[in-house]
Amino acid sequence: MPKSLPLLSAVTVALLFLALTGPGIQAEPASSAGTVPVKLFGKTPQGQLVRLYTLTNKNGLSVSIMDYGATIVKIMAPDRNGKFADIVLGFDKFSPYPKLSPYFGATVGRYANRIAQGQFYLGKNLYQLPRNDGQNSLHGGKVGFDKRMWKAEPVESDTPAIRFSRLSPDGEEGYPGNLFVSVTFSLNDDNELRISYEATTDKQTIINLSNHSYFNLAGGGTILNEELTLNADAYTPVDAKLIPTGEIRNVAGTPWDFREPTQVGLHLKEAGGKPIGYDHNFVLNKGWFSNWSEAAEVYDPKSGRTLTISTDQPGIQFYSGNFLDGTITGKGGEVYRQYSAIVLETQHFPDSPNHSNFPSTLLMPGDTYKTSSTYTFGVK
Ligand code: GLA
Repeated sequence: MPKSLPLLSAVTVALLFLALTGPGIQAEPASSAGTVPVKLFGKTPQGQLVRLYTLTNKNGLSVSIMDYGATIVKIMAPDRNGKFADIVLGFDKFSPYPKLSPYFGATVGRYANRIAQGQFYLGKNLYQLPRNDGQNSLHGGKVGFDKRMWKAEPVESDTPAIRFSRLSPDGEEGYPGNLFVSVTFSLNDDNELRISYEATTDKQTIINLSNHSYFNLAGGGTILNEELTLNADAYTPVDAKLIPTGEIRNVAGTPWDFREPTQVGLHLKEAGGKPIGYDHNFVLNKGWFSNWSEAAEVYDPKSGRTLTISTDQPGIQFYSGNFLDGTITGKGGEVYRQYSAIVLETQHFPDSPNHSNFPSTLLMPGDTYKTSSTYTFGVK
């Protein structure tokens, strides 16, 4: 037996093992894309191999991302006693993702959140998107970016980083223009995960990308006792189908006032909705000289874990997991119920193409869409 297998036969052995044991297993011996370890995570229904890449910093904090949907699968973060837990919802293996995942950890696009009737105009042209949420289009349509394979490549950087890219062809899910899009995840030793997005197009189009991680800083149970702070003086009220009415309303004196740390469950019932809970876009306060804002902080008093999100985006969607109804069993056999997680999606406002008073989501040929958000994991 030679000390190390020649590369070809090592790959053959790994593929054979996968073929024999089926999807969902982690058969491929860990190897490296640059400095980022990678392993097989499963196989798509179309037979494509799905790989999981793990960024780890010197504190042992780690973030695992798969190339299917450029999706965060796992974040291992310490509590105030140094005990690590996985603080995002998802599945232990790949196979449930394509059918069951309500965007767990995914990169959502081309347009995060809803577009009313799945329709918008660019000049005189009316575009019709798939209506995958009642009459509306949600998170890029039936086969959004969350259900596509992305090409992974290592990034030259001082910190572990991985870049995912894909070409979204002209007309994909009804959106105009060939869109070349990339999303880069990097993790530094200050426990800061940065997600940076870039895109270019060859035709006028619209774009709104976000990450859809479901955070539970306690590592399980409900998030109703977690404290949330949102740096937002206003939010965008919605109709019964969660489409913004166009109003930008002051949060003062409403259940949407999170300017001081507030338990998520405190005013949740008053927020109403069907199902009851928060599912709203908040208008972020910005500094005088920059569009960067410390958008949100979540604190779990039990574990001491904190999450701070900063962004250059104008809004953040706060969704309290209202649609989770106990029908999904996730990691470690945990049943995901209402309020099992906090989702905080940095983004432009929902349905912006149909509201001229909202910041524009237009992308023109020759321009580059460029945005980033940081997620800092700490303890108190
Ligand atoms: C977003 C939406 C919610 C819901 C989830 C996915 O956060 O705002 O209404 O559709 O995605 O379940």
